Amino acid sequence: MTEIQLNDPQTLYRRWEDSQWNPFEIELSRDREQWEAMDAADRALVYWALSSLMVAEERITTKFSGLVGAHGSEEEATFLSTQQVDEARHMQFYARFRDEVIAEPELIGAHVAKARRQVSPAFRHIFDEVLVDAHEKLVAAPEDLAAKVRFVTIYHLILESTLGLTTFRFITGYLDGHGLLPGFVDGYSKIHHDETRHIGYGVWFLRETVREHLEQADTIRQTLRDLLPSVADALGGSGEDGPDIERLGVSTDAVRQFALDGLTRRLDIIGVPLTSVY
Ligand SMILES: [Fe+2]
Ligand SMILES: [Fe+2]
Repeated sequence: MTEIQLNDPQTLYRRWEDSQWNPFEIELSRDREQWEAMDAADRALVYWALSSLMVAEERITTKFSGLVGAHGSEEEATFLSTQQVDEARHMQFYARFRDEVIAEPELIGAHVAKARRQVSPAFRHIFDEVLVDAHEKLVAAPEDLAAKVRFVTIYHLILESTLGLTTFRFITGYLDGHGLLPGFVDGYSKIHHDETRHIGYGVWFLRETVREHLEQADTIRQTLRDLLPSVADALGGSGEDGPDIERLGVSTDAVRQFALDGLTRRLDIIGVPLTSVY
């Protein structure tokens, strides 16, 4: 539970002020040399991981402003504005890596279009359909508590926690273990630090909301029922053009178990145990 700190938005905002970093100051020269020399299978694996991250960060940057508009207090609005800046910064880091290490400079939109070809249909369903739909509903009805709970469940609990923390754990484990791409690992670790702050907000918001509005526990449960099958699929591997993720040195089952354990812990804190979902 160490990565989860249950702090209110004002505390999280103060923490953000102390956690600034610049994606253009990460040292990437070793990465550039290594990328040139890397064998094809390693390169395919990293390229696929990077593509997933590129697509994910673009989606969660541009499908977020509805939540800022649905804030319940000025402190919450302040924190959520910082999260939007963070997501844009993350997207900039991955685009820079593609520009400078993979050495294919493009506008971000072109990077994302190329990256989309690497990810699985389940991944695209989650980021291009489920997230987009939940965001549109929240933009249309910022006062609708169920729309906000559904959005935060999808965004903070599933995308940032269940998918995001799992991807971070196994990708950085592999790269560190093989001494690969230190600049990428450095930037990705700073991104991970930001993500734990975002997840802290999501868990705080869902726990407080369920305490005050018990009926919203059902919104969380229904959202999980809708989404978990695609999440399990998305954790199962890459798209058609992608690599075999078991090259990471772990089985798909182990990856899914790690994700499920984290989700179980967070749902316990929120007060909607996974055992009550099905
Ligand atoms: Fe992010
Ligand atoms: Fe985030």
